[in-house]
Amino acid sequence: MAALRRVIKLVKGKQVTDGAGVNLVRVFGRDDTEDFDPFLMLDAFDSQNPADYIKGFPWHPHRGIETITYLIKGHIEHSDSLGNKGDIYDGECQWMTAGSGIIHQEMPKPKPHMLGAQLWLNLPAKDKMTKPAYGDIKAGSIPVVDEGGAKVHVIAGEYLGNKGAFEGKYVKATYLDVELFAGQEWSFTDDPENTLFIYIFSGKANFDPEDPDELIEERQAVLFGKGEKLWVKAVGQDMRFILLSGKALKEPVAWRGPIVMNTKEELDIAFKELNNNTFIKDNGIRSSEKMDKIKIVGLTGSLREKSYNKAVLNAVKELVPDNVDYEVIDLSDIPFYNEDVEKKGLPDSVANLKKKLFEADGVLVSTPEYNFSIPPVLKNALDWVSRGSELPLYGKPIAIMSASPSMLGGARVQYHLRQVCVSLNLIPVNKPEVFISNADKKFDENGVLVDEMTKRVIKDLINALIDKINELK
Ligand SMILES: Cc1cc2nc3c(=O)[nH]c(=O)nc-3n(C[C@H](O)[C@H](O)[C@H](O)COP(=O)(O)O)c2cc1C
Repeated sequence: MAALRRVIKLVKGKQVTDGAGVNLVRVFGRDDTEDFDPFLMLDAFDSQNPADYIKGFPWHPHRGIETITYLIKGHIEHSDSLGNKGDIYDGECQWMTAGSGIIHQEMPKPKPHMLGAQLWLNLPAKDKMTKPAYGDIKAGSIPVVDEGGAKVHVIAGEYLGNKGAFEGKYVKATYLDVELFAGQEWSFTDDPENTLFIYIFSGKANFDPEDPDELIEERQAVLFGKGEKLWVKAVGQDMRFILLSGKALKEPVAWRGPIVMNTKEELDIAFKELNNNTFIKDNGIRSSEKMDKIKIVGLTGSLREKSYNKAVLNAVKELVPDNVDYEVIDLSDIPFYNEDVEKKGLPDSVANLKKKLFEADGVLVSTPEYNFSIPPVLKNALDWVSRGSELPLYGKPIAIMSASPSMLGGARVQYHLRQVCVSLNLIPVNKPEVFISNADKKFDENGVLVDEMTKRVIKDLINALIDKINELK
């Protein structure tokens, strides 16, 4: 009889708060790297209370690992520094190779039940700086092997001749999601040398037919010793567990926060690069789905040459996706609104402004706050285009930002501008709110936006504007 894999370690995990305030179970992590090699960390989610997770995991970097997020139930919205956006729904998986570096965010959305896990898989030393990539694994592409007593979802690797939905390029791990019905037995055979563990979401199990009273409860990871065959029996109730198997790397692990390398020096380099904005090495991630060309125009209430808000609008040029045609409109030639002038015919500058706004699918504003309100340059331009029978902004989406050297970042102008939006029937994007405070510290001497986190939120706002444009189209 094939040598049975024996239980060598049980880890219950700890209830922790991570990201911006997500309550989850850290099943194993940095204290267990040797035992679980090549698997670095496992976080399990099982909550019927959205307050546990909706704060999500806002912008953070990764390097040197793969993160594998699998949801049995739930919804996580994902976006990254390159404008990629995606969703993980029930029965879906995202296999992200961070490789040389990526900055991303993962935001769970409220659902009656969020059940799933995020696994960190180490990359071999020679592949740590590989090109970042995504594997989007849709539910329909995951083969389900129905054996009567068990249903096995083959996410990665191979099971009974069934190839999984995904094949890892580096550590070629097997990832199965197993539904084992009460009283049923199931076994799994693979390379006896592989590291193999399961995490039990629900149910109770026995792993040794010669010792049927030895039961292992749910919500823990079970690590098995070397051996040809894993044997499991669901005792008393149905079981749901994930099984991971892979060849240990046996390489040194240097781990700081979301970055896992082989040496401290490599970590120091990574963090230095994050500070001086040279962290992202490769833009080779799959691009977001192709969309029709979208036209967005940028407006600001500042006329001064070295305006921070102008600089924000200029920074947007580098942040918009390829399918966006983006132009900043200069308002310096627009005269004061005067009904008498209007009656005689629109000044060329105003006619030109109206034409550009008509052609636009959406508007992006970055404006200063003057005395807690809208600078006259911007208000005046909006007043001009609010008149007459042809209204270029009517029903169009608008995204609003403000930059100021103050601590509030011009928060108040945004609410005055929103009030004006009601009159013009502009549709403002509500989230994220982008207040660029302490603006004098976020640009270099040439007026180039250098603050990475600010770029990230601006990118989010652009994406929200694009979503709104597509929704209204
Ligand atoms: C007339 C005037 C009023 C201002 N009022 C405010 C204010 O209410 N809140 C604020 O944060 N900054 C205020 N400021 C400071 C501006 O935020 C600062 O000058 C900023 O750099 C202007 O934006 P810009 O760099 O895009 O021109 C005011 C500046 C001026 C000229």
